[in-house]
Amino acid sequence: MRGFSRILGAAALAATAGMASAGDVEVLHWWTSGGEAAALNVLREDLQKQGIGWQDMPVAGGGGTQAMTVLRARVTAGNPPTAVQMLGFDITDWAREGALANLNDIAAKNGWDSVVPAALQKFSKFDGQWVAVPVNVHSTNWVWANKAIMDKLGISQPETWDEFVAALQAAKDAGYVALAHGGQAWQEATIFDAVAMSTGGPDFYKAAFIDLDEDALGSDTMKTVFDRMATLRGFVDDNFSGRDWNLATAMVINGEAAFQLMGDWAKGEFLNAGKQPGKDFLCYRFPGTQNQVTFNSDQFAMFRQGDKVSPEQAALAEAILSPGFQIAFNKVKGSVPARTDLDVSELDACGQQGYKEFKAAAASGNLYGSFAHGHANPAAVKNAMYDVITAHFNGEYDSATAVKELVTAVQLAR
Ligand code: GAL
Repeated sequence: MRGFSRILGAAALAATAGMASAGDVEVLHWWTSGGEAAALNVLREDLQKQGIGWQDMPVAGGGGTQAMTVLRARVTAGNPPTAVQMLGFDITDWAREGALANLNDIAAKNGWDSVVPAALQKFSKFDGQWVAVPVNVHSTNWVWANKAIMDKLGISQPETWDEFVAALQAAKDAGYVALAHGGQAWQEATIFDAVAMSTGGPDFYKAAFIDLDEDALGSDTMKTVFDRMATLRGFVDDNFSGRDWNLATAMVINGEAAFQLMGDWAKGEFLNAGKQPGKDFLCYRFPGTQNQVTFNSDQFAMFRQGDKVSPEQAALAEAILSPGFQIAFNKVKGSVPARTDLDVSELDACGQQGYKEFKAAAASGNLYGSFAHGHANPAAVKNAMYDVITAHFNGEYDSATAVKELVTAVQLAR
């Protein structure tokens, strides 16, 4: 109840927030951690160089759930922000409501159709019209490891689930927090993405999360996924509940914890703390997902302010997909560029690996939308799944019950 009124309070405040004046853009986003803010600054500075002012509208909360609540309040109050960070199906929902500006002219002028892969265009476009501009591609199936702890304990990169559990056990036995985790529904769902892909493979992932096939949702494979989540639960510390994701990353950075399972925005935190991949920390795909990519792409949708896109919105849209900006931004953010025609030799090893795998997956039709980050199914279904996964993680359901609850939750939410 208290959480609910806090959200309402934030929404009421947001509803009265000021409109951007001419020459400004007002940008609603949830990039409030150190690494995220550093990346956002790259965009802000790019625009400021063009003489466009920036009105910041940050709404804290990883994954953007709170940001979407505030957005709804702003639009309901007749005061939409100029531009909004958004994920996957949320873009589609707002486009269907007719709230988003048509960016086709800018897309044509800059040749977006030929450089943005189809898996991203699926969300950037609605009814054949460009309505959002992808700034990056993240993926959720990563492991982040503290290199000093790995060296000290002689742990090499786990290639399979069993090897990963053995590595977690070795870290726990040596007195470390084995798995740094923040107990928030979206973080548990982020881990679930990787565990499901690893356990069932891409066909299972697609059937369960994208097609919402009841046989897959209710399968023995899904029970194994929940069993594995329970195993992981045994490796988190006692204080995990409610912890923000970046504080969990800090535990790996500080050498308190061995591993974190998180999307590659975690790399932004390592870099922001002055840490180097390969030297201070390691990145690798979640064991059993070595050739898979469960992606999410942050896009900026321009809310209609009148009949036409404003010059500031057009400048923001062009800046976001320009080659130089894509490299500069993604170097800091931990993600990889959203266009497939770039030389990424300036990115670090994790970024180069991520870009190569993203391009290969996009070319072979093997790029799967992250369920946890709104790229597999609409928000209503996603949130219903979140509830079951979190309840199970917190011991409210055993795995068999969780499977049944998942099937029912999806049926009701569709
Ligand atoms: C994701 C978003 C990332 C990162 C993360 C944590 O949904 O795509 O850019 O911000 O949330 O806040």
